[in-house]
This record gives sequence, structure tokens and C-alpha cells, in this order.
Amino acid sequence: MAHLHFAGRWVMVTGASSGLGYEMALQLATLHKAHLILVARRADKLEALKQTIAQAAPDSQVKTVTADLSRLEDIDRCVAVALEEDNLYGAILNAGITYFGEHLELDWLQFEQMLQTNVSGMVRMTQQLATYFERNKKEGGLMIVSSMAAVLPTPYQAAYSGTKGFMLNFITALSHELQNKRFSMTVYLPGGMVTEMTDNDKFSPLKRWLMPVAEAARQGLSAFRRRKRTHVPGATNRLGAYLSGIIPKRIIIGGMARTYGKALKG
Ligand SMILES: NC(=O)c1ccc[n+]([C@@H]2O[C@H](COP(=O)([O-])OP(=O)(O)OC[C@H]3O[C@@H](n4cnc5c(N)ncnc54)[C@H](OP(=O)(O)O)[C@@H]3O)[C@@H](O)[C@H]2O)c1
Repeated sequence: MAHLHFAGRWVMVTGASSGLGYEMALQLATLHKAHLILVARRADKLEALKQTIAQAAPDSQVKTVTADLSRLEDIDRCVAVALEEDNLYGAILNAGITYFGEHLELDWLQFEQMLQTNVSGMVRMTQQLATYFERNKKEGGLMIVSSMAAVLPTPYQAAYSGTKGFMLNFITALSHELQNKRFSMTVYLPGGMVTEMTDNDKFSPLKRWLMPVAEAARQGLSAFRRRKRTHVPGATNRLGAYLSGIIPKRIIIGGMARTYGKALKG
């Protein structure tokens, strides 16, 4: 299958107001010359990114959609905007939230918000977009941002880790149901990155392990462009993923529990 080429094509990026989504959107405009549909809840941040792109990549057209992707009606509205001109080429489903702490302390409503954003919202959007590409035999691609937490069950982010594992299994299985050879689905599995998600004291002891977000964005877009089914960025993360297949999980996860537990307690 030929690589994806984003120049002059429309790509939707969810969670584009900060972190990885912001960086991927910026690189898609400045390095790949894509047109963009930017989605998140914070309208002011999306507008600021639109202005930045207008300066740095004036040929890129940008639409913004303010939406809460834990709400079904907002998801449907985003998809309607993305498909209204029948020219969507790619989508990166990146919006996500975590909870870092003891699972037994996790408030139920906070858990449901995470489930709706990371799982239900992602499934609903994937289903509608994959239907568009599959039924119309369109060329394009979808990338879902999961996490290394999908392959390494992560203590103190237990529910988050579950949602990311769901993404990996769901997308991998679904991709084998689809027939359109010009449409690809990629699951991106970054390890820790320097973003708003990790910008709090609890993550301080882990800071030296975090990947700069611009590099994580570059590697993610490269995997998306090359239509890789899954991609783990960075040699250290890839080594971790590899070792998790040969070292008993209880040893690796026990070590992670000690590291994260210490980080949490300061
Ligand atoms: N940081 C890490 O260490 C790490 C590691 C592996 C994977 N990841 C994954 O990478 C992705 C991006 O995270 P990040 O690190 O870049 O974190 P971030 O800076 O907190 O960005 C998260 C983005 O998701 C958006 N978002 C969250 N809830 C939303 C909702 N209900 N509706 C619409 N947008 C929503 C946020 O926008 P608004 O607040 O404006 O809505 C923001 O743009 C996530 O899926 C995360 O799980 C992160």
C-alpha cells in the first residue's frame, strides 16, 4: 500500500489544544502541508494554534471544532464537520485523559469521564470514520493514540491502562475486518511524554524518562504516514515492550509499581 501523503489533504486531529495533538497538528501543517480540522474543548487554545499555523504555514487551511468528546452529540457533530465536504483523508484520535493515583481513591464520575473519552468516544468516532472510508472505498488513514500502558499494565494508572489496552485490541481486531486496501489504521503507543498530562508534581520523579513531545509527534506522524499497524517510539520504550514479552510480567509490573508508587508518594 502506498504511503499516506498529507499535502493539500484534510486531516482531523482531536485533542489538538495541547501536548501531542498540538504538536502533531503543527507538524502536519508546517512539514506535511496538510489542511486541518482541530478538535478540543478549549476554544481559545484551538484559535491560538490556528493563528500560529496561519503564520507558519499560510497555505494550510484550518477549521476548529470546539467539542467535548465524552459526549455523543459532540462526537457526531465533529464527524459531520469532518465529512461534510466528502474530502477527509486522515484522522488522528488523540484526545485522552488519565488518572494517576491509587485506583481505590478514584472517584466514580471521574472514571466514567475517562471511559467515555478514551473508550466510548473513540469507538463511536472510529466506527463512523471507518464506515466512511470502507463503504466509499476512499483512500486515507486513521491513527489512534494509545500508550505503552496498553502493553505494560501500569499500576497507579490501572483504569487508564485498561482503556489504552482496549484501544489496542479494538483497533487491531477491527482492522482485520475491513476490506478497503487503500485505508489503514495505526495504533500509536508512546511511553511517557512531556505534556500537560505529566505536568504535575506526581510525575516529577519520572521526568527524566519522558520523551520531548515534538519528537513523539514526529515519530507518530512517520508511523501514520507509513501505515504501520502499531508503533512504539524510542529505543528505550521498544526495549521495554520487547522485554515485557520475555521477562515474567509480574517482575516488570512489580518494578513499575515500586517506581510509580514512590513517585506518587513523593
Ligand atoms: N503524556 C504522556 O506521558 C502520554 C503517554 C502515552 C500516551 N499518551 C496519550 O497521548 C494523548 C495526548 O495526551 P497528552 O499527553 O498530549 O496530554 P494533554 O496535553 O493533556 O492533551 C490532551 C488533549 O486531549 C484533549 N481532551 C481531553 N479530554 C477531552 C474531551 N473530553 N473532549 C475533547 N478533547 C479532550 C485536551 O483538550 P481540552 O482540554 O482542550 O479538551 C488536550 O488537547 C492521550 O490520548 C494520552 O493518553 C500520553
